[in-house]
Amino acid sequence: MQTQAISFDRFSQQADEACQERIVAAKEKLGKRVVILGHHYQRDEVIQHADYTGDSLKLSRLASQSEAEYIVFCGVHFMAEVADILSRPEQVSILPDLAAGCSMADMASLAKVERAWRELSTVLDPDETITPITYINSAADIKAFCGEHGGIVCTSSNAQKILAWAWGRREKVLFFPDQHLGRYSSFKMGVPLDEMVVWDYDLPMGGLTPEQIKKAKIILWKGYCSVHQMFQPQHILRFRNEHPDGIVISHPENCFEVCQLSDYVGSTEYIIKTIEEAPANTRWLVGTELNLVNRLANRFKEQGKIIQFMAPTVCMCSTMARIDPQHLAWTLENLVEGNVVNRIVVPQHEAELAKITLDRMLEVS
Ligand code: 13P
Ligand code: SF4
Repeated sequence: MQTQAISFDRFSQQADEACQERIVAAKEKLGKRVVILGHHYQRDEVIQHADYTGDSLKLSRLASQSEAEYIVFCGVHFMAEVADILSRPEQVSILPDLAAGCSMADMASLAKVERAWRELSTVLDPDETITPITYINSAADIKAFCGEHGGIVCTSSNAQKILAWAWGRREKVLFFPDQHLGRYSSFKMGVPLDEMVVWDYDLPMGGLTPEQIKKAKIILWKGYCSVHQMFQPQHILRFRNEHPDGIVISHPENCFEVCQLSDYVGSTEYIIKTIEEAPANTRWLVGTELNLVNRLANRFKEQGKIIQFMAPTVCMCSTMARIDPQHLAWTLENLVEGNVVNRIVVPQHEAELAKITLDRMLEVS
């Protein structure tokens, strides 16, 4: 039965504790009809309600396998879009706060990517020579663009496998929106830096000459993550100086120098697993979002593991943080009342094309 949606105003002034109780009660009423997926960057007060937690790859798989009527995504917009694309048409994907976007995803708009493709076609035939790869941190229309042009999606945990797939088909790759993930992953695969160029989407021809484009094995979109750009090589050098036995682990969205200086580089799930499996009494410097690092520090304190955040300043993903207990309680109570709020629906044609690239990714990884 559908009623008038409950307004968020009734939740906005509620204390976190009150919302926690309401979330638990609503979840109980909904039972198996709802599944809550939580990305590792979510705050403790939210992630504690997740049925499953994970990095982008793991959560995409979970979304594609879920049987629940409602998939409530505690993460950011592109993740809820992926859940909508990979789930069955009768399933409903929900993002508790629609303002939870990703600033990196916004750096590659469809208009700019299409312009780049047109401009590249003045130098070579892109549909014959270039595989477009989009990082999963991108809008559904960008994934659809890749679907239309023989491309594929990657995440931080499968980028090298996806690049190998792409180079097995065409000579070059256009990689967007994260230049750092593209650069680090291809360098690890043996591509020299002088065969990589950066496409500046604000400049005609990306700011490149035809010769530079012809020589490049990979064209990196000039996008980046505003959170990870805060981590700098000097943070690692200082740590190594103070703690010669310390271990450094970073997310591949960090700049090339930070990745190069790190002992381990990988997705959020990989970071968790690596620290989990490490011997007791080890000391870690972690270059990724603060909520996750704080959670790791608390979780492994008893094992004597000292876990330190890489930057001296607070670097939180402010959009991930938009999902709070108030929005989660509001979303779930509306579902109990038969109202769907904040549904994410990708237009059918776009979803079909985007699904090609996501299915390809899940198959390759
Ligand atoms: P993961 O897939 O590693 O969780 O990364 C997602 C993300 O947005 C990191 O900034
Ligand atoms: Fe986007 Fe960076 Fe936030 Fe990840 S941490 S969701 S890449 S802004």
